[in-house]
Amino acid sequence: MGFQRKAASWDPPWAARVEPLHESERTRVTRLVSEVGSVIRKEPLGPSARRRLRHEVEILERLSGAEGVAQLAAGAAPSPGSILLADVGGTALSESVMPLDRAGLGGLAGPLARAVAGMHRRGVMHRDINPANIVVSDRGAPCLIDFALATRFTVVQPGFVHHTEAVGTLPYLAPDRTRRRHVADVLTSLPSSRASVTGGR
Ligand SMILES: Nc1ncnc2c1ncn2[C@@H]1O[C@H](COP(=O)(O)OP(=O)(O)OP(=O)(O)O)[C@@H](O)[C@H]1O
Ligand SMILES: [Mg+2]
Repeated sequence: MGFQRKAASWDPPWAARVEPLHESERTRVTRLVSEVGSVIRKEPLGPSARRRLRHEVEILERLSGAEGVAQLAAGAAPSPGSILLADVGGTALSESVMPLDRAGLGGLAGPLARAVAGMHRRGVMHRDINPANIVVSDRGAPCLIDFALATRFTVVQPGFVHHTEAVGTLPYLAPDRTRRRHVADVLTSLPSSRASVTGGR
């Protein structure tokens, strides 16, 4: 990999097993398995780590109890410098063979649309819905994860955004995110949501 591996995290004594799930320059994600179950530990890394951690926790607190979106782990002992999340299990949709067949697509689209609607009702915009940020549980239920780029509605400033400055994952951006069209209602997010579950095909 093209980046320096950061020092290993301090693993809490209650974790009988630690499974690495993802590591980049910005983030390390591990599964902490204990006698009573498992939680996901997300550690922002690098210079702005503390700010990003605070931001994601604040968004997740707003989404407490919302269906189909990542949840802070209830009752887990704190792990310094990390966010502890309920373990969705399963794998990211980006690991699935694309395009999904009709049944697979049908099973994800409804729950995902309801999750996005619930998130919007709480005033949160995800801004990076793409297959790597949708984890499908072993029972086939999709869950939106990764609120690193999420924001509250009131914080977003309208205006032209050059594609090099657009926030999110380019093939999955809604047209209004680049202001290439002057339509800014919820319908504009449908093509990108569809692309997120079909892999853009
Ligand atoms: N609650 C969860 N349950 C199960 N798996 C998870 C959970 N949260 C994260 N993961 C796993 O960890 C991976 C990375 O998580 P996440 O998308 O939050 O990191 P990231 O912010 O994209 O990292 P980076 O900063 O490198 O882009 C996911 O694709 C998924 O496989
Ligand atoms: Mg992600």
